Amino acid sequence: MTPTQEPPTQKSGTALATLRELPQNVWNSIFRNPLPSTDLERSSTSFTNFFLHIHPVKVNKNTLRPTYTMGLGLIATFLFVILVVTGVLLMFYYVPSTTQAYDRMLDLRGTVAFGIFLRNMHRWSAHGMVAIVFLHMCRVYFTGAYKRPREFNWVLGVLLLLVTLFLSFTGYLLPWDQLAFWAITVGTSIAGYAPLVGKQMQFVLLGDTTVGQEALLRFYVLHVAVLPAVLVLMMAIHFWRIRKDGGLSRPEVAAAPPPDAGVVKIKKVYGLQGFVRGPFTKLGNVPDNSVYSWPNLLMAELFVFVLTISLILVVALLFNAPLEQPVNVMHPPNPAKAPWYFLGLQEMVSYSAFWGGIGIPGLMVAMLFAVPYIDRTTHGVGKWFAKERLLANTIFLTLVILNVIFIVIGTFFRGPNWTLVSPF
Ligand code: HEM
Repeated sequence: MTPTQEPPTQKSGTALATLRELPQNVWNSIFRNPLPSTDLERSSTSFTNFFLHIHPVKVNKNTLRPTYTMGLGLIATFLFVILVVTGVLLMFYYVPSTTQAYDRMLDLRGTVAFGIFLRNMHRWSAHGMVAIVFLHMCRVYFTGAYKRPREFNWVLGVLLLLVTLFLSFTGYLLPWDQLAFWAITVGTSIAGYAPLVGKQMQFVLLGDTTVGQEALLRFYVLHVAVLPAVLVLMMAIHFWRIRKDGGLSRPEVAAAPPPDAGVVKIKKVYGLQGFVRGPFTKLGNVPDNSVYSWPNLLMAELFVFVLTISLILVVALLFNAPLEQPVNVMHPPNPAKAPWYFLGLQEMVSYSAFWGGIGIPGLMVAMLFAVPYIDRTTHGVGKWFAKERLLANTIFLTLVILNVIFIVIGTFFRGPNWTLVSPF
């Protein structure tokens, strides 16, 4: 029993008293703390509540600065939650069969209550998640947050980005319309350009030599079971690592000299919590720049959640998810385009199949994994575009801009036979 918990309230032992006290006793058995009003209660709430215990009791003020994280990691997390909820609801209607999938899409549009709205929310959240995870990676890079001790969390992040892309890609096929069919045909043919194992990889992915029933089933299973499970597991490790790495990155704080420095040689003493990394756990050597997670961090998270869901609701109300004609394998659209996030690749493939589809992207991903192990410096952490990181930031920014330019060209400036056209 925690110090703040109500003692058992059985007074008279009569059946009537038991009944009267029932609601309060049930409530107390679930929520061990009253709404916290003292620091002890704030700490205790973070420790004992299942949903809150992922948070530290206190966080550094820098973590709460909206301009530092932009809330991007949180937005990605909430988008994933929205995707799971809307995705499960969609599963009640969807059938992964080439003869039924498209009709089910029409049902969602025509007969299922709020069906179109559900599909819109799912679709726009998926696109949003790809973009936000990419932006979150950029924020981590530009603030130098991948550096020691966060190298492994960066590597986990790169894996999270790849799984997010693959999750979105596998979902793309499910409506089984012309857009889905040809985007996946183009996307999987890029995988086929890999030397030696390319064709085998493509076959494993499709379960056949072309996109058909086997591919639809494989993509469905990957999309609704395998990849979400992998993503949840990796996200859990990602969050756990944030705690173990001492919270979010922040600028280094100069240690204050001990008040009696030079007078008596004090042997430094650590409390048990000194084993956990992070400045505010060490005794008396840095200013305490932290605040309680309850309510500060919680309110910030709630705000980001409300913002995310409101935005998705508005977008889902205003714009319908695309649904083109049913699949016609004899009539490829010209040009057939991959999903937008792979259009940079498709653009590069138009110059060189191997280098555009495999060589350069493979090199980029390898470089992403290697970044924290190549850059072993420790300066410029916790600050956007720190002067000390001018070269590293310039290289990364150039690659990001190039990628965006290629995606924009592929999306808006490519017409029939992949010739350049004006979108205006
Ligand atoms: C599904 C995708 C992802 C989710 C849900 C996610 C979630 C989060 C959250 C909630 C945070 C803390 C708040 C914040 O920094 O905004 C965080 C921090 C972090 N993330 Fe991610 N993340 C994802 C992908 C990535 C990617 C792609 C990378 C990099 C390649 C990455 C690297 C990191 C690192 C290094 C931190 C610690 C940052 C610091 O200490 O300042 N994450 N992530």
